[in-house]
Amino acid sequence: MIPDLSNDRLDRLREAFLRIGFDADGVVDLIGPAAHAALGRGEPEPARRATADTGPLGTAVRVFLLGEAEPADAVAEALQPLEVSEAVAGGVLAADGDRLRAALDIRPHSAGEDSWWVVSDLDADTRPDGWATSPDHVLGVGQASLSLVRATSRRQVGSVLDVGTGCGVQALHASTHARQVTATDVSDRALALAAATFRLNRVDVELARGDWFDPVRGRRFDQVVCNPPFVVGPPRTDYVYRDSGLAGDDASALVVRQLPGFLNEGGTGQLLASWLHREGEDWQERVARWLPPGGIDAWFVQRDVAEPELYVGTWLRDAGFDPRSAAGRRKSAEWLQWFEDNDVAGVGFGFVTLRRSGAERGEVVCEDLRHAFDDPLGPESDQWLRRVDWLREHGSAEQLLSARLVTAPSTVLEEVSARGDEGWEAFVHRLHRTDGPGWQHEVDELGVRLLAGCHGAMPLGDLIELLALGAGENAGELTDAALPVLRELVRHGMLIPAEWAGEE
Ligand SMILES: C[S@@+](CC[C@H](N)C(=O)[O-])C[C@H]1O[C@@H](n2cnc3c(N)ncnc32)[C@H](O)[C@@H]1O
Repeated sequence: MIPDLSNDRLDRLREAFLRIGFDADGVVDLIGPAAHAALGRGEPEPARRATADTGPLGTAVRVFLLGEAEPADAVAEALQPLEVSEAVAGGVLAADGDRLRAALDIRPHSAGEDSWWVVSDLDADTRPDGWATSPDHVLGVGQASLSLVRATSRRQVGSVLDVGTGCGVQALHASTHARQVTATDVSDRALALAAATFRLNRVDVELARGDWFDPVRGRRFDQVVCNPPFVVGPPRTDYVYRDSGLAGDDASALVVRQLPGFLNEGGTGQLLASWLHREGEDWQERVARWLPPGGIDAWFVQRDVAEPELYVGTWLRDAGFDPRSAAGRRKSAEWLQWFEDNDVAGVGFGFVTLRRSGAERGEVVCEDLRHAFDDPLGPESDQWLRRVDWLREHGSAEQLLSARLVTAPSTVLEEVSARGDEGWEAFVHRLHRTDGPGWQHEVDELGVRLLAGCHGAMPLGDLIELLALGAGENAGELTDAALPVLRELVRHGMLIPAEWAGEE
């Protein structure tokens, strides 16, 4: 049953939350950072202890964040001016004997200065025993949601479309940098909970129901974000939040293929996606084939690859199946058989940035980024597109050789040496970017010297000629060898155009 969350009920709930300080900072202040961190790890006991006898805010934390059943009078006090009878009728609370517990997950979510509440279905941690995950379960803010939040550009734009909005988290973040936000979903339940999220936060979002891009046919946006139901396997929908009903990686392919058609010129898209690794097929060629024709720039970043056995086990557990149970084994067998029938060796997962570039030919880069890094990928995707533009403008050898480049301040050199006849001799020269995605590149001795000389004072061509002269090398051959490496270093932000140096 879809909760009956009228505006009046939500406005009263908002008033209650504001009154008791049920927001991101208020919760941390109440339970302390250690209990808060434990809660994030799925360990509720420290938070339960920290909320004993702490009044209405403690009650709200116990009910909504810990999934506890609390005395009715304490809950009534916490939710005033929303009457508990109204909260139960609206599907926010459920009776549990003479106590009350949450029937929906409503939790603070913050970003920078913003603090919101996100409404979703209760997850396994806060659900009482016996409450199963329903096929139209609306997922809360999970790791995948947060990873897309961090990978999304926050450039100021006119319009953002959020496809498959679920609890509405991507749209909330979009509201910080877009004048107009539109969110779609195929699930009525998701749309109801997203509407509640937006109303609670007084965030204005246009909502539309339908399959993929159907609700916005004929429209264009400055930016599109999408965290699709990307679980890869047989064409089946057990849970709408994760299964598209399409076979294999067709859901990701569909979004990559269709998204650019909904972008204004220069508009960008960011999405999470999965792709199959099939025997005898290059994953990079596979995903590049998904792109529509035309000048679409595309950056596929592969964060991980899981073999079928690991993949199936992980997603079975996610759906609450014990892989040892009869049902778990049946599902597992069916899934693994589908992988085998389709020559699947693994499933790749990552981020995709797309841009309708207006150029004759788009730039398509598919690369691995499997190591850990701290900085969000969103600002990097903006910079990646900017660097792609610059490289396009400097597409010929002459154009690149006449450019002045600067080794980025965040680029450092690591050398590994072995003792030789002349003392320590470096045999590995590795450049590291200390920010952004933390790219690394090995270069040779001449590359090290070239980068040392890149401080924007002279054109690249002159620098290479000087280097060749000093090293007794042929300048033409050195240039031919250096240009592809230099382009790659520019693309990865380790060398930057001199005119950009000094920018924030
Ligand atoms: C993984 S959840 C993402 C939810 C939310 N955007 C986030 O980032 O946490 C995928 C969402 O896509 C929706 N969905 C599933 N199939 C869809 C389809 N064919 N068209 C549009 N949305 C769909 C689901 O209902 C669900 O809300």
